[in-house]
Amino acid sequence: MDVRVDNSPASEIKVDALIACVFKDGGVEDERLASVDKALGGALAEIISRKEFHGRRYETDIVLTMGKLAARRVLLVGGGKQSEFDLFYLRNTVAAAARAAHKKGARSLAFLMPTPAGASIIAVAQAITEGAIIGLINPDIYKTREGDEQGDVEQIVIVGDNSAEMNEGVRRGKIMSEAANFTRSLAEEPANIMTPVRLAEEARKMVGQHTNLEITVLGRAEMEAKGMGSILGVAAGSHTEPQLIVISYNGGKKGDQRKIALVGKGITFDSGGTSIKPAQNMHYMKYDMCGAAAVIGAMQALAEFGPAINVIGIGCAVENMPGGGAQRPGDVRRAMNGKTIEVLNTDAEGRLVLADGVLYAQEQGATHVVDICTLTGAAVISLGHAAAALLGQPQSWLDQVKDAAEESGERVWQLPLYNEYREELKSNIADIANVGGRAAGTAIGAIFIKEFIEESTEWAHLDIAAVAYTEHDQPYLAHGSSGFGVRTMTNLVLDVADGAK
Ligand code: BES
Ligand code: ZN
Ligand code: ZN
Repeated sequence: MDVRVDNSPASEIKVDALIACVFKDGGVEDERLASVDKALGGALAEIISRKEFHGRRYETDIVLTMGKLAARRVLLVGGGKQSEFDLFYLRNTVAAAARAAHKKGARSLAFLMPTPAGASIIAVAQAITEGAIIGLINPDIYKTREGDEQGDVEQIVIVGDNSAEMNEGVRRGKIMSEAANFTRSLAEEPANIMTPVRLAEEARKMVGQHTNLEITVLGRAEMEAKGMGSILGVAAGSHTEPQLIVISYNGGKKGDQRKIALVGKGITFDSGGTSIKPAQNMHYMKYDMCGAAAVIGAMQALAEFGPAINVIGIGCAVENMPGGGAQRPGDVRRAMNGKTIEVLNTDAEGRLVLADGVLYAQEQGATHVVDICTLTGAAVISLGHAAAALLGQPQSWLDQVKDAAEESGERVWQLPLYNEYREELKSNIADIANVGGRAAGTAIGAIFIKEFIEESTEWAHLDIAAVAYTEHDQPYLAHGSSGFGVRTMTNLVLDVADGAK
């Protein structure tokens, strides 16, 4: 996608749609908008004063310009209440407008957007770029093309000063949003295509395009040699080979002991295994690899940003199937550190693959771990689809993740990790069971993973089950995978490398 900044008067920018944001109960008071309105003979002010357009969040309306502007149409988009308009809503409003303009046939878009109070020029340009590039993707990849479809949007123009800061914001926004869309494209593929082996191939392809990344993939035999019984137990019921995808980025200065590990759950299909899931909605379980896909996307973004820190990205790619070799409820498995796990429910498989994943990360020298996973349906119950659940320790590390999420416009909300939850995971015959009761399901998933985290490791757990994909189109985002986590993890690493916090 071509994104450029243009400081010409908005009325002179030649695009299919000039997008202008109007607040609820607002008008065309913005100077640049007022001059567009003037060129249109007051058409915008009129539809606003007649209450044909209210400026409600994500509301859109089209005004044809009939040659009065260089742009063919003006698309008004509602910004909602001005007092609530921040970078999060700027990004989403841009995305909603871009989607609406594209539906009306536009292939080049110019954005005339207000600046949220207190936001920097870089952050504004970045948010606009991200909103447009993320908003415009539609996951209809397997629909047969008839030849008369709407072409893709090819050009984005940001109306504003062509300054170094603006262009830096565009650069950052492109890296972030293209990485997020890469993650989405991996997650969108059906499970018969995106097997663990295919996911590893896609990761290899991405790494091949970046000279500062390296990749190693552990297959079944290597996992056996390492004693990764926990992840292998999940893989046992599937014909597809499990893959531990390990991507390294070594940008750290000599002597810097820190190493950040990003560890993603990559269940390419979660049937539940022997503890099989109900048929309804089972097809959504192709998205159970969104954590690993987000890690692969974040590694791409990091390679392009080039921060001075060492990072290891791990995708635990496994298919959870009920084949003849599948593990049974009651089976006992031994993780890489020798700990024994009684598998009481084979559908609680994410924590089993992550146990070996985080152990491997620490063996490789990780001092800081973020694990990211579509782990529990309970995360949807606690927070709805508005936010991911965050748990872990120490609090200072979680605070850094929160800051990074806030910068990204990805919402996370912390849940407590009380010691008492550990009681739920007592097994009669092994060191730990993989499930407890139904209460506090998200925290119990986290407390299981905590058992495999060393005392000295700083650890954050992001349960993205509620936000990794949406079942229906939103005004600002197509249905399907969202790419959640790519920007938070990338910003987190950049912030740590900067020593900003
Ligand atoms: N992949 C699911 C969690 C999930 C549910 C993700 C809904 C996205 C949407 C996970 O492996 C699972 O099945 N978890 C169980 C855990 C239970 C058996 C303790 C759950 O949440 O029901
Ligand atoms: Zn499951
Ligand atoms: Zn799962």
